[in-house]
Amino acid sequence: MKIFITKRIPQKGIDLLKSAGHDITIHDSPNPLSERELIKACQQADYVLNGGMQKFDAFFFQNCSNLKALSLMSVGYDNVDISAATAQGIPVSNTPGILSGATADVAFLLMLSVSRKAFFNHKRILQGEWKGFDPTAHLGVELNNKTLGIYGLGRIGFELARKAKAAYNMDIIYYNRGRNRDAEQILGAQYVNFDELLTRSDVISLHAALTPETKNRFDKNSFARMKNAAILVNTARGGLVNELDLTEALQTGQLWGAGLDVTDPEPMDPKNPLLTMENVCVLPHIGSATVETRDNMALMAANNILAAIKGEKMPQIINNEVYP
Ligand code: DGY
Repeated sequence: MKIFITKRIPQKGIDLLKSAGHDITIHDSPNPLSERELIKACQQADYVLNGGMQKFDAFFFQNCSNLKALSLMSVGYDNVDISAATAQGIPVSNTPGILSGATADVAFLLMLSVSRKAFFNHKRILQGEWKGFDPTAHLGVELNNKTLGIYGLGRIGFELARKAKAAYNMDIIYYNRGRNRDAEQILGAQYVNFDELLTRSDVISLHAALTPETKNRFDKNSFARMKNAAILVNTARGGLVNELDLTEALQTGQLWGAGLDVTDPEPMDPKNPLLTMENVCVLPHIGSATVETRDNMALMAANNILAAIKGEKMPQIINNEVYP
């Protein structure tokens, strides 16, 4: 079978597909494909493995209706028009679960880095501004016994809450579509409404998918309800946050700090004012970027394709309704 991979992925995933005797083409470039290039490449393929952040919209699926399956090497699938894929009978899979620990690590890293102004202080050394010990300069805040609010308490949110509870005895509150009984029983997490999440949290960490309902959910109205001393952490999708409103809230002191692993758009403009702020730490979407996790993601994405080739249901299917 002809398999097109939209970006180089860890070798383990490629080897697995090759060892099953398939014909692999890889778009081996740091630059994403244009819409036209993507369609052209996918029209010649039976199966596609998406290793990047390519968009697969209705126009794509209408023009690639020959495709037998699309396997995403990501947990998020906001870049795919799932109903358009289903309309063309194309199963789509993702890689849930295996990146939860690594992504929660980055949320924890950002929470702690913002609280201690770590990136800003590192830049001070590079700029020759470390003149000596200063008892009052650039002080951070501590996380012990503070309240962590989780927006979207699924697997990644649970992992972060577990770490925060163990490290700092943080109280966990959460807002979610449904109750997370495990988090309530194991971590003593408390389910709250959205306004309570905003007003009670010292740190709010975002772990929801990007959907029409969650887009720009964190805007000036939300920031106005948050504590002035609060920190916002986003490792989910940049689109959950209105970035201009966030910038203003940080500039006016309405919010204390922000840690972002995702931005809108990506990549972030290097001249973005957020990058110069004392209480802001930004990373370039590295939540799942460990050797172990990326290997597992590549293998899971490859196994989804191999199942589809065998005529089986893809194990991590998103649009189950595509199957009769
Ligand atoms: C994911 O898996 O969704 C990561 O954010 C990478 O896209």
